[in-house]
Amino acid sequence: MRNTSASERASIYFDNAATSFPKPPEVTEAMARFLAEDAANPGRGGHRMAIRAERIIDDARAKLARLVNGSDPRRLVFTLNCTDALNIAIHGVLGDGPAHVVTTVLEHNSVSRPLQALADSGRIELTRVGCDGAGFVDPDDIRRALRSDTRLVAMTHASNVLGTVQDAASVGAIVREHGALFLLDAAQSAGIVPIDVEAMCVDLVAFPGHKALLGPTGTGALYVGERCPAPAAIGAGFKPWREGGTGGDSSSPTQPPVLPYFLEGGTPNTVGIAGLGAALDVLDRMGGAAILEHERRVLETILARLVDDSRFTIYGPTDVARRVGALSINIAGLDPNDAAAILDDTFGIATRPGLHCAPYCHKAIGSFPAGTLRISPGPFTTDDDVAALLEALDQVADAGM
Ligand SMILES: Cc1ncc(COP(=O)(O)O)c(C=O)c1O
Repeated sequence: MRNTSASERASIYFDNAATSFPKPPEVTEAMARFLAEDAANPGRGGHRMAIRAERIIDDARAKLARLVNGSDPRRLVFTLNCTDALNIAIHGVLGDGPAHVVTTVLEHNSVSRPLQALADSGRIELTRVGCDGAGFVDPDDIRRALRSDTRLVAMTHASNVLGTVQDAASVGAIVREHGALFLLDAAQSAGIVPIDVEAMCVDLVAFPGHKALLGPTGTGALYVGERCPAPAAIGAGFKPWREGGTGGDSSSPTQPPVLPYFLEGGTPNTVGIAGLGAALDVLDRMGGAAILEHERRVLETILARLVDDSRFTIYGPTDVARRVGALSINIAGLDPNDAAAILDDTFGIATRPGLHCAPYCHKAIGSFPAGTLRISPGPFTTDDDVAALLEALDQVADAGM
């Protein structure tokens, strides 16, 4: 990985699970170029600039569909972020109610909250499956939670608190055999952990463009698999989350039942998608597997220093083999918010304290309500960054005693 010294950047950045930083220069260049040359509103059958803008979007769409081994790029829907993608999926599948839904305690609020709101309104019944002490969901617990009326299983691929990568393929096989739909929240995995919607029996996969895919904020995607209603019949079974202009079929009084436009009402984030397309080329060159290996090596270095030090509590497995680059710790005698503030103010180190929008996970691991201090390295984390973090943690922990 590129060895930039920490002092060359504004902050030593350990908050990649929130959004990746820095973004590759190719992303900035593609966005500036798009704004300068092609920033028309895309639209089929429009003028040349509009067609160029559409081509940039179609190119990124095809790359993202390939990333999850989706057979049809038209089933790849651009969204504002992962939350937007998850809401489109959840409300799309459950708009009709009543149904039973299975989810887990590891979920981010972008899954938990829409599901809880549907449960509170009486539209669904919700079963929340637990995890073990290390932060893994047992696929057999999902199997046991299924009912004859279960329509959807919604599960995170990798916990944003613990970094634990779930056995999504086993869950997918169980859900497929049962006949329900499987929604995978790939917010923390897309780009670095392989996702194959066919092999893993995933029906809907939601992911952001701005985390491991290295694109700008304001980008995300939902892949709508073959078992969700086909484009021609989609209006019959899948409700659009927002309705409006689609750049074509304007005479239709309601949302035209054609993917991806059915779920993409309104002007898309064209400049963001141009940046995301460039980011995907960078990711391709760097290799998601190599990035994951790098992040795991960073975690290993941090864990090696902290694990036997009684001033620190480590959450999740100490073996990094089933982790993405997210590590939750606590420092004895210090609230995680105070620890993060000291790291930021005194040492210029960016981390993320608190509940990380995943309160059920913190309840499950015993860190609710204060939460933890989350350290999340990224592809550009350097050895100097890690040394600075470890030195700072040592000093902050001394202050906490
Ligand atoms: C597991 C998980 N799901 C969903 C989200 C929501 O992603 P976004 O911020 O792109 O809406 C996040 C964000 O951190 C996440 O970690």
